[in-house]
Amino acid sequence: MSYKEHYSVLNKEVIEILCGNTETDDELTFADMTFGAGGHTFALARARENCTVHSVDQDPDALNNGRKEISESNLEGRVILRDMNFQEFPKFISQNEAGLKFDGIIADLGVSSHHFDQGDRGFSFRFDAPLDMRMDSDNDSIETAAHIVNTYSGEELANIFFRYGEEKFSKRIARKILEQRETAPIETTKQLEQIIKDCYPTKLQFGKINPATKCFQALRIKVNKELEVLENLIPALLPMLKIGGKLAIITFHSLEDRIVKNLFKDAMRSEELFELYNKKPIVPSHGELEENPRSRSAKLRVIEKVNQKKSKNKYAQFSKIGENR
Ligand SMILES: C[S@@+](CC[C@H](N)C(=O)[O-])C[C@H]1O[C@@H](n2cnc3c(N)ncnc32)[C@H](O)[C@@H]1O
Repeated sequence: MSYKEHYSVLNKEVIEILCGNTETDDELTFADMTFGAGGHTFALARARENCTVHSVDQDPDALNNGRKEISESNLEGRVILRDMNFQEFPKFISQNEAGLKFDGIIADLGVSSHHFDQGDRGFSFRFDAPLDMRMDSDNDSIETAAHIVNTYSGEELANIFFRYGEEKFSKRIARKILEQRETAPIETTKQLEQIIKDCYPTKLQFGKINPATKCFQALRIKVNKELEVLENLIPALLPMLKIGGKLAIITFHSLEDRIVKNLFKDAMRSEELFELYNKKPIVPSHGELEENPRSRSAKLRVIEKVNQKKSKNKYAQFSKIGENR
């Protein structure tokens, strides 16, 4: 399946914020921690001819597709795509391009539409597939969802479903998984979906939201250590910003958003000076939601490195974008 159908969330806002006040002949340097289909990367590279974008992704499909797209575009040399988990990026730069600082960095977290629509990756219960859910699907040292479901204790499973999925039937589901495991391992998405459904009261089994949604999200977060890598990433990226450089993070659920909010708050108390670009997160416009309903839970937070604190209202225009939606 091609990545071409991918819709880049809050693309216009990200480009406006990261490139907005960078009218300069100096060479600009951006980084994209989540290349995906390359939407934000290519938009940044095209927005400023005098820029280079350092992008990373850990997903083999994204990397293969991206390398092809880069070679077919006229952006080779200005878009550099690397295969790594984004938590390795700060160390990689300090070891290989010591001193490199960035005018803007974007991280558009989580999995892409491609992951949900590519049935064999095991992210979605819409398709029957092995329970895998690794973004870095070539990496055999990562525990798959099947491994977790079939080997973790009931208490551990219940904690995962509750903590990462806010699943209120977490204990019941964990007990049912253990019961099922005694007969045969749970290997596929459809098997797990059915087990979860059976734990829900009948009147909730056929609602608008599939009962398996929360547990699937929880397992995906656990498999890819999504919260841990985010917690490592933000403090390591902040020192890599130039003065005036901005770090923009798009999250898709409250667990991630809380981490970003708190780490940005911590940064405001650090020795280097930072300012929040917008107090309230920026969310997709009505137009974007109509075009891409999957962006409905997106929230964009931005922090800027400054050399002195600016007046509180300087970015009122962006607060308005966020607040009026
Ligand atoms: C939401 S998509 C990004 C879409 C992209 N912004 C675009 O416009 O096309 C997230 C991408 O980030 C990658 N990703 C998520 N977490 C990652 C991590 N810790 N390290 C590297 N890549 C990651 C996923 O593999 C996926 O391709």
